[in-house]
Amino acid sequence: MNGSAIPKDASPAPARGLDRSVVLVGLMGAGKSCIGRRLAKQLGLRFVDADAEIEDAAGRSISEIFEQFGEAYFRDGERRVMARLLGEEPCVLAAGGGAFMDPETRDLIRTQAISVWLRADLETLHARTKGRTHRPLLNKGNAKETLQTLMDTRYPVYAEADITIETGHDNPNVTCKRVLQALQEFKDTAQKDNAS
Ligand code: S3P
Repeated sequence: MNGSAIPKDASPAPARGLDRSVVLVGLMGAGKSCIGRRLAKQLGLRFVDADAEIEDAAGRSISEIFEQFGEAYFRDGERRVMARLLGEEPCVLAAGGGAFMDPETRDLIRTQAISVWLRADLETLHARTKGRTHRPLLNKGNAKETLQTLMDTRYPVYAEADITIETGHDNPNVTCKRVLQALQEFKDTAQKDNAS
């Protein structure tokens, strides 16, 4: 066999061959879409952005949904879209920041998927969301204070995720690698538990 017959990716990325979706949770600006795209590529799974799916289903942007119908209506749509996506073939799913706060959605994620919380500090979240206008919750009042309030209420719930990864100033490829490693460890532990 000559050298060129060896596939380039002969040593597969950790955690390949997952039979469940990976759901990325975390606050706005945590990097769910950015890391999710890279992760999906490494895992050989499709990447799905829940916010984009909600917009497609509604035929409107998230800002328009909030404006025209209110947050409760958005959350109903988000719950339905998350349930549909979690029932489909495994993927890497970037959830909107509020999705994991819904008990029904959280329960579905717990039973159908592996959840990864991308945990970031206030400064990081603020820097990454500043100047962007597509997130209605951050468009009114003081965005930094809003993020702090959301951290206070949501972080104890996000902490229920299967895996927590601190994200900060690391290059996204480094964060992606750490998520892959953690998924592999999660998979190994689950296999051991099943065998005993
Ligand atoms: C929200 C986060 C947004 C989007 C909506 C509400 C939230 O998604 O779903 O604006 O409640 O945290 P991202 O976290 O992807 O920005």
